[in-house]
Amino acid sequence: MLIIYCFLFYTIRTATARDTLNLGQSIRDGETLVSANESFELGFFSPGKSKSRYLGIWYKKIGNGTVIWVANRDAPLSDRSGALNISSQGNGTLILLNSTNGIVWSSNASRTRNPVAVLLESGNLVVKDGKDIDPDNFLWQSFDYPSHILLAGMKLGVNLVTGLNRFISSWKSTDDPAQDDYVYGIDPSGVPQAVFRKGSTIRYRAGSWNGLHWTGMPQLQPNPVYTFEYVSNENEVFYRFNLIKSSVPSMMVMNPLGDPQRLTWMEQTQKWAPFVPFSGLILDQCDNYALCGAYAVCNMNSNSAKCECLEGFVPKSPSEWDLLDKSDGCVRRTQLDCEHGDGFLKRESVKLPDTRFSLVDNKISLLECKELCSKNCSCTAYANADVRGGGSGCLLWFHDLIDMKELSESGQDLFVRMAASELDDIERKKPKKKKKVAIVITSVLLVTGVILLGGFVYLWKRRHRKQGKTDGSSKLDYNDRGNREEEMELPIFDWMAIANATENFSDKNKLGEGGFGPVYKGVLIEGQEIAVKRLSKSSGQGMEEFENEVLLIAKLQHRNLVKLIGCCTQRDERMLIYEYLPNKSLNDFIFGFLYTEHFFWSFFSSLLRTYP
Ligand SMILES: *[C@@H]1O[C@H](CO)[C@@H](O)[C@H](O)[C@H]1NC(C)=O
Ligand SMILES: *[C@@H]1O[C@H](CO)[C@@H](O)[C@H](O)[C@H]1NC(C)=O
Ligand SMILES: *[C@@H]1O[C@H](CO)[C@@H](O)[C@H](O)[C@H]1NC(C)=O
Ligand SMILES: *[C@@H]1O[C@H](CO)[C@@H](O)[C@H](O)[C@H]1NC(C)=O
Ligand SMILES: *[C@@H]1O[C@H](CO)[C@@H](O)[C@H](O)[C@H]1NC(C)=O
Ligand SMILES: *[C@@H]1O[C@H](CO)[C@@H](O)[C@H](O)[C@H]1NC(C)=O
Ligand SMILES: *[C@@H]1O[C@H](CO)[C@@H](O)[C@H](O)[C@H]1NC(C)=O
Repeated sequence: MLIIYCFLFYTIRTATARDTLNLGQSIRDGETLVSANESFELGFFSPGKSKSRYLGIWYKKIGNGTVIWVANRDAPLSDRSGALNISSQGNGTLILLNSTNGIVWSSNASRTRNPVAVLLESGNLVVKDGKDIDPDNFLWQSFDYPSHILLAGMKLGVNLVTGLNRFISSWKSTDDPAQDDYVYGIDPSGVPQAVFRKGSTIRYRAGSWNGLHWTGMPQLQPNPVYTFEYVSNENEVFYRFNLIKSSVPSMMVMNPLGDPQRLTWMEQTQKWAPFVPFSGLILDQCDNYALCGAYAVCNMNSNSAKCECLEGFVPKSPSEWDLLDKSDGCVRRTQLDCEHGDGFLKRESVKLPDTRFSLVDNKISLLECKELCSKNCSCTAYANADVRGGGSGCLLWFHDLIDMKELSESGQDLFVRMAASELDDIERKKPKKKKKVAIVITSVLLVTGVILLGGFVYLWKRRHRKQGKTDGSSKLDYNDRGNREEEMELPIFDWMAIANATENFSDKNKLGEGGFGPVYKGVLIEGQEIAVKRLSKSSGQGMEEFENEVLLIAKLQHRNLVKLIGCCTQRDERMLIYEYLPNKSLNDFIFGFLYTEHFFWSFFSSLLRTYP
């Protein structure tokens, strides 16, 4: 009996993988460390078609072993005789040895009495002193040396005291984890900004932090998957995100093509999927760094970028302005005259310009900021540093203003230095009164229109209901339940969310083709199954009409038809999102939609007939 017990105990002991490497122990190729709850595993692997061996950490339970960190990414082992030792000299350095005991890679750690290496549940490999669990006392951690992935809890940024810079960088290819040219990190010069580079060239600048998000990245919003923070003080500057539910992992990946993306694990599809509301960095042409050159604002106008000079500025090379290359930018119409006093012109709703040579003072007000900028003749612009609570702090520019983008909803106000005479000219040219009158007239017309339309709809509905009751000809017993006054609120879905859900509108997910376009099956990140009808672009309907139509369809839903749960009108697309019911046939979906829409159209045309 005792023997059996011992035997069992022994098997259990050996079956339980260890997460700790003690002094004098080693891990050879084929052996692994596994974190406490088995989320991550450390060991040797060969990426893709490669035969070389690398020491790395990967997800153990999900993603078919998605590699998240590589130790010797630039120094591959040629065979399976590598070993990871924790230095027997007792200084806590991790060393990766090849077959001839040459050191291929090593960690940096200061001397300590009882060093151990532990693979934590977060995916962080740390070297620490014995049982000390205070992260501040870690002697070394893999999270300080990210490879191509930013995991929850990792800092992206710079330790200003030690100079340690944590950034993510692409692999050369899926077969070769060697560090390649694409890098995303934080540039601490001037006022810190998140920057994506290829080599030394900036490709994209997310901008400085404005208290809520990077100024050029308004899509970074509070969301159900992760929280984020930004810290900037004299010791360090970093961005970090944390998962809200550890069961819904999310990470930022720099893939070999230099296309940084946020991915989230989809339990339903067993895949990493691009995440909403922030997946890629470069969303449109205007996100290309300095596309329009100095003193120009890039404006996305129906899918193509348009450059516009700031007011008071003119194209530097007018003959080339209309060509694609606008990087020459704009110049002042009137030179500054600092001695006799310049003024400032407000430019609303922009992504603030490059702050690599800027200064910030978080304590002063916008008024003091203006004064500060006025006093220094080389100051070209100022703005609030923090947008929270109506705005505070002071950001100053001393160089050409570069890389601005029109952000109509979440852009910031920038105050641009301008010659006083130029300001007068601009002021004089403004057709102020006429504009105001025009606005008033338009508003009055609009309001009247809305009231009239509302009245028509109400009247028609009343009339229609009466008719239906008397002659019984209304076949569609639509779900009115007497709540006529109930306000309709149809959720607007994010394009990326729908793309995620349908695996980027893959053919595999296509249920079929309806009269108005293809229908896809999908799964939202919350797990709800949906059917997406993607209206073909050729249907020739305007966006506004589409939105009205959708609202009406939603209001008129028939209880036997599939339920409309939202729509999406981003990226020049129009999609209707319905609840997916597995026991409905494909035809129910396609014709269900048509039926609903047909009902809408008959409703609309009868409205026109009744009130021509
Ligand atoms: C590495 O560890 C192994 C096994 O613990 C040991 O035999 C070897 O001597 C160590 N090598 C070095 C260089 O410390
Ligand atoms: C491991 O999982 C258990 C149960 O789910 C949980 O209570 C514990 O906190 C987890 N440990 C770590 C280190 O995450
Ligand atoms: C998962 O990995 C194994 C071995 O690495 C491979 O054979 C299999 O095809 C992979 N599965 C998927 C879905 O990628
Ligand atoms: C720690 O040990 C390693 C390998 O044994 C050695 O190369 C390194 O110089 C030592 N570092 C310190 C700080 O003593
Ligand atoms: C092992 O590494 C050492 C030092 O990096 C190198 O000189 C030696 O050639 C390597 N041996 C093999 C078999 O790769
Ligand atoms: C260790 O520190 C040295 C000097 O500070 C640095 O050059 C080297 O890159 C560091 N190595 C690692 C693996 O961090
Ligand atoms: C203006 O500001 C710049 C940048 O801070 C500084 O180098 C320069 O000395 C200032 N000039 C004056 C006149 O204060």
